[in-house]
Amino acid sequence: MAEAQEVGEHSLKRSLGPMNLVALGIGGIIGAGLFVRTAAAIADRAGPSVVLAFIVAGIGCAFAGLCYAEFASMIPVAGSAYTYSYATMGEFVAWIIGWDLILEYAVAAATVSTAWSEYANRVLDWFGMRIPYQWSHSPFEHDPNGAYGMINIPAVFILLLLTALLIRGTKESAFVNGLIVILKVSIVLLFIGIGWGFINPANHMPLIPTPTTYVTPQGITHAYGGILGILGAAGVVFFAYIGFDAVSTAAQEARNPKRDMPIGILGSLAFCTILYVLFSYVLSGVATVQDFRSAGREASVAFAITKYMTGYEWLSKSVTVAILAGFSSVILVMLLGQSRVFYSMSKDGLVPKIFSDVHPKFRTPYKSNMLFFVFTGLLAAFVPADVTGEMTSIGTLFAFMLVCAGVWIMRVRSPELERGFRVPAAPLVAILGIITCGAMIYGLGWTNWMRLIVWLLIGFIFYFSYGKRHSRINAPPPEMPEGIKLSR
Ligand code: ALA
Repeated sequence: MAEAQEVGEHSLKRSLGPMNLVALGIGGIIGAGLFVRTAAAIADRAGPSVVLAFIVAGIGCAFAGLCYAEFASMIPVAGSAYTYSYATMGEFVAWIIGWDLILEYAVAAATVSTAWSEYANRVLDWFGMRIPYQWSHSPFEHDPNGAYGMINIPAVFILLLLTALLIRGTKESAFVNGLIVILKVSIVLLFIGIGWGFINPANHMPLIPTPTTYVTPQGITHAYGGILGILGAAGVVFFAYIGFDAVSTAAQEARNPKRDMPIGILGSLAFCTILYVLFSYVLSGVATVQDFRSAGREASVAFAITKYMTGYEWLSKSVTVAILAGFSSVILVMLLGQSRVFYSMSKDGLVPKIFSDVHPKFRTPYKSNMLFFVFTGLLAAFVPADVTGEMTSIGTLFAFMLVCAGVWIMRVRSPELERGFRVPAAPLVAILGIITCGAMIYGLGWTNWMRLIVWLLIGFIFYFSYGKRHSRINAPPPEMPEGIKLSR
């Protein structure tokens, strides 16, 4: 198990305060989920009841967020859900979660980088420029004119840029992230404030549409309206909340983790939940459901502004810039989280030492950053992004369930351990977290369950051929809190 309190030149640098951590959370949270998926949830599932869907998904995340906060204040080690599972359910379950977290962090970073590429081209369009289709799409994509993609260069470019920033330093990365957060939050607030005056009350009536079905242009049938519509939409917008847990991967870089980890995790989650509810209320009030069904979904916010908010063309452009910036910070935080999880796994011997080598000057795991750049860069360059979003969701939900279960197990097994933050009403909150996340996994359907299972089977091969043999389970460091017994 990785050291709880490391010092010296092989350790990460403790440079983050509570505001950095809240900003890190917001940086990882607000992105494609809000700007792209809200419109899809309105169009396909919920109409104006998307507001309730954001509340439902927010409550589900709050259960998990509370459990993360307790763990992060008790075991402030960089591995997040991986470390918590190690301490409670043993090495094998920990490996499964560590491997699963690649889906959440690395695959999400690759996915969001391809969305970044799309929006970069939109901004270039304003200046009469455009990166040709074949250089900005994977080989599996083609446009209606028959042009085939070859390699997604802008996606690789943003991954390289942000990897370089991460290597340069966590403090520097946190600074850039802070700037981006200020920009994107300001524009979201502007949209809420100005858009409020353009709400057409008729678009909010009825708030919960009568239950029916809707067939998407791709021929997929969804329950629309009623309770099922809200629950389906909650599954869709869940993606928008992913990222708050990444705060916990920075535990070894927090100056005062016991106090500040819960602030970072719960503060960013609460802030974004309020913002999301307001944003979705305004968006679903400004434009009609039909607009979201017919307009290009990806440009839905800009479209709603252009069509209904006359005189605010600048806001439409600002939203596009905010989206581009938002995607950048999501990628940054995801890449950060990924390298920190592997840092802990490497300290524990489950993956090679190269993943925990820290740069002598910058004190960041630079080799890990570079290797994950290669991995995410290859995915972004050559693989289309349509399925990876759902894989990210299922991977994250699975990790959330185990973290909730872990808090419960830990309360029973080691009630005496010092906790900087305690989940209120445990184990009820942990159980509700397991049920809510389990229900969302169920809602993602068997294709995604199979994808998760195949991914985990690949992980088993690595575990039995490398991790189990090199594991340092029999040599836990003295810093490990008393009362935590490590096992397979
Ligand atoms: N929550 C992040 C986003 O919406 C993953 O892009």
